[in-house]
Parts: sequence; structure tokens; C-alpha cells
Amino acid sequence: MGYTTKDLEAKKVTTLRLQEMKSAGRKIVCLTAYDALIANIFDDCGIDVILVGDSLGNIVQGHDTTIPVTLEDTIYHTKAVVNGAKRALVVADMPFMSYQVSANEAFRNAGRILKETGCAAVKLEGGKNVTEAISRMTEAGIPVMGHLGLMPQSIHKFGSYRARGTDPEEAEKIYQDALLLEQAGCFAIVLEKIPAELAKKITNTLKIPTIGIGAGPYCDGQILVYTDMLGLTVDFSPRFVRRYANLLHIIKEAVQNYSNDVRNSNFPNLDESY
Ligand code: KIV
Repeated sequence: MGYTTKDLEAKKVTTLRLQEMKSAGRKIVCLTAYDALIANIFDDCGIDVILVGDSLGNIVQGHDTTIPVTLEDTIYHTKAVVNGAKRALVVADMPFMSYQVSANEAFRNAGRILKETGCAAVKLEGGKNVTEAISRMTEAGIPVMGHLGLMPQSIHKFGSYRARGTDPEEAEKIYQDALLLEQAGCFAIVLEKIPAELAKKITNTLKIPTIGIGAGPYCDGQILVYTDMLGLTVDFSPRFVRRYANLLHIIKEAVQNYSNDVRNSNFPNLDESY
């Protein structure tokens, strides 16, 4: 089903709007962003949800995992994204160890993120183990997006980024966790790298929207890390990433041309001077 002008003209995407989109069978379009410039471009394009993913650890900071990202990093980047986004719902990813220690600490950190950045919601990874924290947040009016399936913050526990829920036991656990996250008050759940049929079962059971990444076509919405879909991170090419541009090539060509012009005294010319 296509977008109507009403979808794109809606002043601000809210968690209620996402719920309405699920009910109306309209797909929710999400991307990550980490700064105001990119957030503003995506906002202009009508992206519904901009996630300040802790993937910023890999993409912006150059780490191998998301684990080193701090609460201060999240707050810094989320503030920038909020400055760039007018219509999209901005969600901040809670970094590793900002919500695992206790429900109290998780609650306080989520509150800090909302108060200091102006974003509309937080996201955190986990199932049963995080439902107490999620309930505290949602009862206090902090909207929470869940995240199940492949959970990159647990990479050292699992030792690989393989698909999750491929055996019946693991699939059942993910399904049960999804039910618990909905009960705890999540407004949406990211499903990462799980079989399409499992994502379909969860999507059809839950009232809240599911947002897939490597979870097949049946989710209520989709998210990709923007540098992957725009072809900036070409050394990362799992099956679920579709490249819509080859920005790495375009940038390299432009920078080569600029370098050649400077080296050959072709830039600047007199029209570009005062
Ligand atoms: O950190 C991130 O970018 C994410 C998305 C991949 C969902 O969690």
C-alpha cells in the first residue's frame, strides 16, 4: 500500500501514528542517523522513524562492536539528530551497560536521554531480562522500542552475528520474549536477523508494530543502517542489505577530482576568487 499525502504531511510522527499505520497496513520506513545533516535529509524524504543506533560505535567511532558506546555519546549524537529532524520520530538506542545493571538505573538513564536530547523514545535490546526496566519507563511516560533476535550488544556471549531463531527452541524464546515486551508496554519491536516466518508469526500476533532488519518482508516496517543502504560501508554486505546507491564510489571520485585540481592549480580559478 502506498503513502498518502496525509502520511507525509502529518506534522510529527508519534508512537500513536505508528500504531495507526500498522492497523491501516501502511509500512513504517526507518533508517539510522547519527548527525543533524543526514537526519535532516532523511526527514525531508519522509522517513518515519530515525534511530540513533548504537551502531554509531561501528559507523562513526570505528569500533569493531557497539559495546564501547557510552551514554554521553548517545546523548551527543541524539541531540544532533533531533536538531535535524522535524517530522520523524527520533529514537535513541540505549548503550551497553546503561540499562542492564538495574531497573532503577535503566529508568534514570532513559529519563536523562529524553530530557537532555529532546528525542521521543528509547530502544533497548533484550526480552524477559529487561521487562522490569521497560515497565518502569513506560509507566513514567518514556516510550520504549524493544529489540529481539540478533542483539549486537551480546556479541561476546554468542560469539557470532549468525541469524537467530533458526532452531525451534530459540524461535520459541524469541516469540515468548516478543509477547513479554508488548505486555511491558513497548510501542514497537525491532526484529533483527530472524527467519521471515518467525517474524511473520510475531507480527501477526502482536498489536504493536514490528520493525525488521534481516527479518523478511512481513514486518510492519523496515530499518537499515544508512551507510549500508547508501553504499558507504561496502565491506559489510550481508544478504539483507540492499544497496540503493554507491556513495563510496561517488565520494572517492569527487575527492580525486578535487585533489587533481588543487595539485594542477586548476582550483580555485579567478571566478572562484575575490
Ligand atoms: O544500532 C542500530 O543501528 C540498530 C539497528 C540495526 C536496528 O540497532
